[in-house]
Formats: sequence, C-alpha cells, structure tokens
Amino acid sequence: MPSGSSHSDIPRHVAIIMDGNGRWARERGLPRREGHRAGAESVREAVETCKEIGIKFLTLYAFSSENWSRPKAEIKALMELLERFLKKKAPEMHRQGVRLHAIGRLESLPKSCRRELERVIEQTSSNQDLDLVLALSYGSREEIVDAARQLAREAAEGGLDPESIDCESFAQRLYTSEFPDPDLLVRTSGECRLSNFLLWQISYSEIVITRKFWPEFKKTDLHQAVEEYARRHRRFGAI
Ligand code: FPP
Repeated sequence: MPSGSSHSDIPRHVAIIMDGNGRWARERGLPRREGHRAGAESVREAVETCKEIGIKFLTLYAFSSENWSRPKAEIKALMELLERFLKKKAPEMHRQGVRLHAIGRLESLPKSCRRELERVIEQTSSNQDLDLVLALSYGSREEIVDAARQLAREAAEGGLDPESIDCESFAQRLYTSEFPDPDLLVRTSGECRLSNFLLWQISYSEIVITRKFWPEFKKTDLHQAVEEYARRHRRFGAI
C-alpha cells in the first residue's frame, strides 16, 4: 500500500488547491481582495467540516511561490488577510483541537506574518484532533530541490552514502516529512492542473475537481468530495 493511503472510506488526509477567489469577485463586480476575504471564510468552514467528518490532516494551498509575481497590492492584501485570520481564528482553532503547521519557504513571508504564524503554531502544538497545514510561499519543485540539496549536503559531509538514498529517505527531507501523503486532492474552479502543489506526495491520491469557486465551496461540497472518494475507493476494492 502506498504510504499515507487508507483503507477507510474517510480520507485521512485531504489537500485542497483553493482556486477561483478572483473570478468569484469579478462575477460580483467586487475587487479581488473581497474574493480572498470570502475565501478565508471557506477556510474556516473547511476546518470545521474536516473535524465533523473525522479527517485528520488538511493541507491548504494558501500562497504559491508563483503568487509572488502578482501585483504588490494583492500580495499585501493576502498577507494582511492571513495575519488577521491567524489573530482572529486562532482561539477558535485552538478550542477545536486544531494543530497548525506551515510548509514552504516561510523566510520569504513578511516578518509580522511569520511571527503570527509561529505564535499560533506554538500555541496549538499539543492539539491532536486535526492537523491543519498551510502551504505558504510553497512550490513543490522548490521543495524537491531543497530536499535534494539537503541530501547532497549530508553526502558531502560524509554522513550519507548516496547509494542508500531511496523514496523513503527522500520523503524524509521534504517539508511534509511528518505527515502522511494526501488520500484526496480537491481543486476548485474547474481547472485540471496541479500547479506545482505536492507533486511527490499526491502520486497515489484520488483527485476530485469541482467547478465551484473556492468562496462557494461549503460544507456540502466537501462532503460530496469525500463521498466521491469513497465511491472510487469502493470500486478500487472490487474485483
Ligand atoms: C486562488 O484564487 C487563491 C489564492 C491565490 C489564495 C488563497 C487564499 C485564501 C483562500 C484566503 C486566505 C487564506 C487563509 C489560509 C486564511 P485566485 O486569486 O487565483 O483566483 P482566480 O484564479 O479566479 O484569479
């Protein structure tokens, strides 16, 4: 069985590419930042729904390495939104038993945002009900390059035999080393791309694409995605 996959109808780990905030806003004649603000509300609801369903890990693609090329004002709005979200929602997440993690080149984030992130990660570190992983300044190719660099460093220092490198030791150097691989990958807004998200980790994941924009993705949509996963899963088990 591939690492991280589960025999249950409930996926243990769900990863989501939250797409379509901008288009949701445009359709309503609103500025893009309003789409992101509404998207943050869907994040809150997704966390709550994962807890209800019994999903143990939720990874959200919140800001990609490529997103740095967006207009400065949009980047600033996104970073401020993230900081506000952390400040406002941390107590509720803490109460819900959520443990926060962040993956990506976090050193690129604004200082105040990073401080807030570190504070909530520390505050929630002993919670056990749901591991929420925010991918921030994240790119899967960059992550793989960072892992390769790490292995090369260890080999050059003499502690690692290059011939001993295998999938497991490689995965141990990825940002996600402490999490199981996602069982289910959801992407909103109908795009059929992976966009540099968890390329290594989703090798065996089921992929569900919904046409809904992320701000419209609510409780029932996540339930439907999990039902779709369960249907495929049952077919997979059949002869
Ligand atoms: C994609 O929509 C979404 C993003 C680039 C950012 C995701 C951010 C949030 C959901 C809000 C804040 C996050 C947290 C964790 C509180 P897009 O802008 O690419 O939409 P478009 O493709 O329609 O332009």
